[in-house]
Amino acid sequence: MKTRNPATPLSTNRHLLRWIEKMVALTTPASIHWVDGSQEEYDTLCAELVAAGTFSKLNEKLWPGCFHARSDPSDVARVEDRTFICSLSKDNAGPTNNWVEPFEMRRKLKGLFAGCMAGRTLYVLPFSMGPVGSPMSQLGVQLTDSPYVVVNMRIMARIGLPVFAEIDKAEKRVVPCMHSVGRPLAPGEKDVPWPCNPDKYIVHFPESREIWSFGSGYGGNALLGKKCFALRIASAMARDEGWMAEHMLILGLKNPDGEKAYVAAAFPSACGKTNFAMLVPPAALAKQGWEITTVGDDIAWLKPDATGRLRAINPEAGFFGVAPGTSLKTNPNAMAALAKNSIFTNCGVTPEGGVWWEGMTDTPPPVCTDWQGKVWTPEIAKVTGAKAAHPNARFTAPASQCPTIDSEWENPAGVPITAIIFGGRRATTTPLVYQTFNWSGGVYAGATMGSEMTAAAAGTLGKVRRDPMAMLPFCGYNMADYFRHWIKMQRDLSDSPRIFQVNWFRKDADGKFLWPGFGENLRILRWIVGRCQGRCRARETPLGWMPRYDDIDWTGLDFPREKFEQLSTLDRQAWRAELIQHEELFLDLHAHLPKEMIFERELLICRL
Ligand code: OXD
Ligand code: MN
Repeated sequence: MKTRNPATPLSTNRHLLRWIEKMVALTTPASIHWVDGSQEEYDTLCAELVAAGTFSKLNEKLWPGCFHARSDPSDVARVEDRTFICSLSKDNAGPTNNWVEPFEMRRKLKGLFAGCMAGRTLYVLPFSMGPVGSPMSQLGVQLTDSPYVVVNMRIMARIGLPVFAEIDKAEKRVVPCMHSVGRPLAPGEKDVPWPCNPDKYIVHFPESREIWSFGSGYGGNALLGKKCFALRIASAMARDEGWMAEHMLILGLKNPDGEKAYVAAAFPSACGKTNFAMLVPPAALAKQGWEITTVGDDIAWLKPDATGRLRAINPEAGFFGVAPGTSLKTNPNAMAALAKNSIFTNCGVTPEGGVWWEGMTDTPPPVCTDWQGKVWTPEIAKVTGAKAAHPNARFTAPASQCPTIDSEWENPAGVPITAIIFGGRRATTTPLVYQTFNWSGGVYAGATMGSEMTAAAAGTLGKVRRDPMAMLPFCGYNMADYFRHWIKMQRDLSDSPRIFQVNWFRKDADGKFLWPGFGENLRILRWIVGRCQGRCRARETPLGWMPRYDDIDWTGLDFPREKFEQLSTLDRQAWRAELIQHEELFLDLHAHLPKEMIFERELLICRL
């Protein structure tokens, strides 16, 4: 078989060719590789990554088709303080985003990117967010000097020849995504396994719909289809075009009669979205015929259809999940999805060539190599607290391998959404679940959501921050205008989804979780969908409609009534403090804040 010359262009799109020519002149790579997306190409790139020391091949018998990578210890998470929304006016970026004047930023980027790919290959990576050809999908081309990014993107998005064919039809605008690890190689210089640059810039130009990312090879900083495109740029597109780009999982709940309802749920990073999306029903409910199916675990694009029903697609094709805590007990479906053809980053590696992370098994391996390449044993961990896997270690796994993947997950028209759920991580204050009184009350609940920080982003662990709709790090424009867009969206909906708030993470006075979570969340989900369908009862509270103990199906679970009361308690002192924090957020956003948010707050104060 004749092998293709990767330097031969795979597109005839004039705009694309001209842009690449300009970027090549700027970044001066040693070669160009047009990505066709084939298995053969993937295998070759993985072999090259192994030879370069970036990847190690895992034991083929235990982990077929899997690789492990160790990043540089300084490049382990999204860098929110180095993420910029460079809209023409500062006001359009709003107070929650970092803003730099776009001409100044372009000058800066030009300097950073000048010659930055010397000695490296520039990959031309076309991708479709959403099924190729779906009217709800969007196209991008990432130019990157990281083969690690190319192979991860092959799992996370639809890439290669079918996407070039779409681009050549030239019916849709293509988002240009520039990416470099920012580590040029001098002639003859030996590369390091994880090239990156301490100076990082993750930059978005929402008006011209462009992304420029410099200095990082990790996750959301570098796989530009994900957070940069599918959330930050897409949120700005969605505002202009009347749809929504949200940090939400999408799941289907099938009842024993075989009727399915789809739900979209927003949770901040590392708050169990992947586990919820792949939830395993408790045995007693599974026996009755309750089932969960997975459409997506991180991002949803939602659009009203011709009848005014909100429909959603998952723009991604894979899961980029947090590994620690994932196990056969907590998420057997994720474990099945990642069991083959997956890429692991910053996990522990066992002597037999497997991966391990904290929480994967009750008994840790007697020894492994930790995420930094050092010897790790449970004894060392006891003394030093060292972790085998970095807390933000990730798996990149094909969604198609998930046993619960929904039959409609690639439906180009998306799936109809019955309910929207917001959920933060709160040890106190927020009850287990409530249904907001109406759409604008739901927008208020989402807008004022607070959550304790996790390891998914660099920052102070455990500190409560306001994370509106779990979009604080991902909204590509002024957050207050984003609330307004949410309010406006209802006008295009004939049957708006009902909006709920949940909190799986409330603790008792001893710091113990009150709610078992995981599969038991199905009981709450049933109540949520039942409310939308007029099948479940509730009591009115100042926050919204809450289930009574007897409104939840407890079949097969001995859950004490008092614990449920504790989970539903409305602590008025805590809510007083909470409302003051809402006010602080609103003060920051006051210039653009829709009046509905003020009215909702007033109503809530009156009810409390
Ligand atoms: C993610 C995140 O990677 O939200 O999904 O950080
Ligand atoms: Mn996420």
